[in-house]
Amino acid sequence: MDRGLVIFLGALLTFASSWLGLILFPFWQLQTEKPFAAAEGDAPYPQPLAGLALAGKKVYQANGCMYCHSQQVRSERFGNWWDASGEHRTGADIRRSYGLRRTVSRDYLHDNPTMLGTMRTGPDLANIGVRNPSAAWHHTHLLNPRSANAWSVMPSFAYLYSRAKVTGARSDKALSLGREWTVDPGYRWRPSAKEWDAILSARGPEILASALAVRPGTQLDPATDAGRANLLEFWLTTPEENYQILPTAEGEALVAYLLALRKAETPLPEAKE
Ligand code: HEC
Repeated sequence: MDRGLVIFLGALLTFASSWLGLILFPFWQLQTEKPFAAAEGDAPYPQPLAGLALAGKKVYQANGCMYCHSQQVRSERFGNWWDASGEHRTGADIRRSYGLRRTVSRDYLHDNPTMLGTMRTGPDLANIGVRNPSAAWHHTHLLNPRSANAWSVMPSFAYLYSRAKVTGARSDKALSLGREWTVDPGYRWRPSAKEWDAILSARGPEILASALAVRPGTQLDPATDAGRANLLEFWLTTPEENYQILPTAEGEALVAYLLALRKAETPLPEAKE
């Protein structure tokens, strides 16, 4: 029996219905969406990204941040958590300060492509610019996430930074980090026992004096093992004398983008819960 026509019609129906459901209906639903202004004369929300932040979006895309970070806040009806008395609650995202409300399609009006993401190996970043507006924090965290959270599994993006010799004054863009994070960017550096001996015999008194100024009352006698260990811990937290870590143009753009992520903060009429 010839079933050619049935197979053809079946395939046509399958593809046509998915095209209608996934492309045409959403297009009709969303084509009239416009930025929202609460009152006449208010700056409409959302605003398109511009300048550095726009360039930073490309860096975000290129580095696959989306494989570990979503940019979408779930509604108060989803996202389970249990309060102290064991009561079941919802709205975990809002409780985690991922946003003041759920995100809706209007939040992504100017995003092409959108960076919704599906994985949450790390926290949601829809409103990271509000949650953590410190550019300095983002730079040190991107250089090496372990400098901010010892347990972090986020990869280091040290290649967005350069280690440069200080000529004259330190740049005001230089990251303020102890030498343990800057000698070998992306890793946590420790001198070997031999190297530490050499450093102590060359500059011991100077290191001791600055340690005493900051940590009086600590055992810092370089003649004892505990003193040598404490001195090393202190010295590793001080900046390198001759080197500084500077963000590259890409690093600066990426942080500008992160600080511009302020979704789920402006109230929208369609995002009640
Ligand atoms: C392998 C998964 C992974 C990738 C890839 C990744 N991250 Fe993360 N990220 C994490 C984890 C896990 C955390 C939480 C621990 C921490 O703070 O380091 C985190 C935390 C963060 C935070 C702090 C969020 C908060 O609420 O404090 C920011 C900002 C961030 N990541 C930005 C980025 C950017 C930008 C990129 C891309 C350049 C990126 N991440 C790539 C896993 C990842």
